[in-house]
Amino acid sequence: MMKNLFTIVFILIASTNSAFCDAISETRKQEILQILKHDCGSCHGMTLKGGLGPSLLPKDLKRMSEKQIVLTITLGRPGTPMPPWEPFFNNEETHWLAQQLLNGVTFSKTSLKPLNNASNNENNHQ
Ligand code: HEC
Repeated sequence: MMKNLFTIVFILIASTNSAFCDAISETRKQEILQILKHDCGSCHGMTLKGGLGPSLLPKDLKRMSEKQIVLTITLGRPGTPMPPWEPFFNNEETHWLAQQLLNGVTFSKTSLKPLNNASNNENNHQ
């Protein structure tokens, strides 16, 4: 009985966690880009050119494989300020994020849509 319950819970988690290719919704992609800009940007620079953390521009990251970047984001770098992001992104989302970094992300106003109306006001204190 318990085993069946675990199986059902596991399937539910796996299916809501976008475990399949291209299952990341547009809204979630925008959300990840917001996190990249504001959270990663607080250490790596708002334009990702580097700050406390190194540059995340494609020319500087291309020495790493996508897998290495995914591992760095997932686990962080113990002993450095780079935190693990495992609680925030699932595996597929981390791969998508690593691909965005390798391809180069630009934060133009038009490519970043506000997630909801309330978030518009938050820009003032950023
Ligand atoms: C609290 C500061 C901080 C935050 C927030 C942060 N990082 Fe980092 N990150 C660092 C530091 C410092 C390093 C360098 C660690 C080292 O010395 O190896 C690093 C390293 C990295 C590297 C490896 C770069 C390289 O050239 O070796 C990647 C990729 C990376 N971070 C991505 C991210 C992403 C993506 C986010 C947001 C989801 C993020 N980081 C958020 C501080 C941060």
